[in-house]
Amino acid sequence: MLIGHRGLAGLAPENTLESFRAAAAHGLAMVEFDVRLSRDGVPVVFHDDALERTTDGTGPVAERDWAEIAGLDAGSWFAPTFAGERVPSLEQVLRLCRELGLMVNMEIKPDAGREADTAGAALALALRLWPDAAPPPVISSFETACLEVSRRAAPAWPRALLAERRPADWRERARRLDAAALHLDHRFLEAGPVAEIMAEGMAVRAYTVNDPLRARLLRNWGVAALFSDYPHSS
Ligand code: G3P
Ligand code: MG
Repeated sequence: MLIGHRGLAGLAPENTLESFRAAAAHGLAMVEFDVRLSRDGVPVVFHDDALERTTDGTGPVAERDWAEIAGLDAGSWFAPTFAGERVPSLEQVLRLCRELGLMVNMEIKPDAGREADTAGAALALALRLWPDAAPPPVISSFETACLEVSRRAAPAWPRALLAERRPADWRERARRLDAAALHLDHRFLEAGPVAEIMAEGMAVRAYTVNDPLRARLLRNWGVAALFSDYPHSS
């Protein structure tokens, strides 16, 4: 299965509503996006800790209120045709994904010291908005503290331990968090570790895979899903 990375970041500006529409239009069933907090505590869908790369704003997201962030242009950097595209709130993204019938992987990306606040706000909102009948969001994070909050807030929602490389203590951490999967950087993956993780009853999902040949190899190893910026058929 292919999971659209930041919506479908190769074809539309990452983590914007257009990016989620592009994923649905290309037939993807699931998308990944990143959640962080504005200064005034609104969960926003945005990857970097600073605004410069993907908007016409400056400075850390955590030092801007949602009203300021909402007015920024998050599309022009990608291509002129996307000028005026906005940074969406988590609420907007969850509502759109439901409308489009997309499954979601909510990656919690907290600023240092805001781990519990970020996960708490994101989970509270998602629990309120996400219909029981739909497949539950997969919650992932590089930060164990976020997954602990998620486990308490939504024990039945699947959690995934996110890391570049499989951590040495992955078994203990996964057990403690009752994690269903590991999300790992494909560049450091090998067949053996994939098999070991699967033998523990967990799935492996790999990011960010934009090469169909690499995708085929990962699938042969048993990798369950691939995060990709592009739709491709492998
Ligand atoms: O969740 C998978 C992947 O998105 C993790 O890395 O930096 O793209 O958020 P990053
Ligand atoms: Mg991410």
